[in-house]
Amino acid sequence: MKSLLILTGHSKGLGRAILDTYLQKEEFEIIAISRTKLGLNKPNLTEISMDFGELEVLETELSNLFPSDEFEEIILINNAGWIGEIKPVGSLQVKHMRNSVNINLLAPMYLTNAFVAAYKHSTAKKIICNISSGAASKPMESWGQYCSTKAAIAMFTKVAAKENADSQFRFFSIAPGIVDTQMQDEIRQADGLDFPEIERFKSYKENGDLSSPESVASKISYLLEHENEFQEVIQDVRNFDLP
Ligand SMILES: NC(=O)c1ccc[n+]([C@@H]2O[C@H](COP(=O)([O-])OP(=O)(O)OC[C@H]3O[C@@H](n4cnc5c(N)ncnc54)[C@H](OP(=O)(O)O)[C@@H]3O)[C@@H](O)[C@H]2O)c1
Repeated sequence: MKSLLILTGHSKGLGRAILDTYLQKEEFEIIAISRTKLGLNKPNLTEISMDFGELEVLETELSNLFPSDEFEEIILINNAGWIGEIKPVGSLQVKHMRNSVNINLLAPMYLTNAFVAAYKHSTAKKIICNISSGAASKPMESWGQYCSTKAAIAMFTKVAAKENADSQFRFFSIAPGIVDTQMQDEIRQADGLDFPEIERFKSYKENGDLSSPESVASKISYLLEHENEFQEVIQDVRNFDLP
């Protein structure tokens, strides 16, 4: 029987590596959502272009996103994210605050809610994986939008897990560590006057301390495949090694 992966933010970075990992698993049909379509010629991949900064399209399309076929396993990975405007509170623009909340919090909330509604009667193995961040529990100057939206999606995931403790749903909020992606580029390009920790982030790149997206994708795939080895909702890929 087929399995289904719904993945957001598949066009680059960690999401692209997760996509490549699951494209190798022939049993998976994949629905992938980002603003950018990769145009890959893969029979088991459906790409959808959507901007989570503007939620009206997602709101309209929500009920059409989840196929009603019978699947052995169904996974939702809310990976799309934005570091937000790297500025201190008092200097933030309203449009960027709205975008951050839409992309990092409301879009994964909408998708998680609609996924549970769509598949509550399905007998498939069902996993929701919301990509959070270590920043969810660690305040960083000038990351107000990012830290707060990541903390909120982690808590939303914990609430959903508690509500569904006796069900066949599993929920994870996963911190991927510090990953060598465009998001880290954006962080290194911040104004040092706004972001006092910028030199630390530049040194991660210079010293080769960033994880590759491929290695993190492998760990996320392992965790989702061996979910019974991971009892807590909040997970950090740095806390385990692949066997
Ligand atoms: N990199 C790190 O060190 C790190 C650390 C902790 C947590 N994370 C989390 O890991 C996840 C992946 O991050 P990454 O580092 O791979 O970032 P990235 O390289 O910037 O990629 C972000 C992905 O999200 C999509 N996305 C961004 N804005 C979007 C929008 N408005 N609508 C729809 N899709 C949008 C992008 O696609 P389009 O541009 O095509 O829309 C892209 O596929 C994020 O949730 C991030 O917060 C990353």
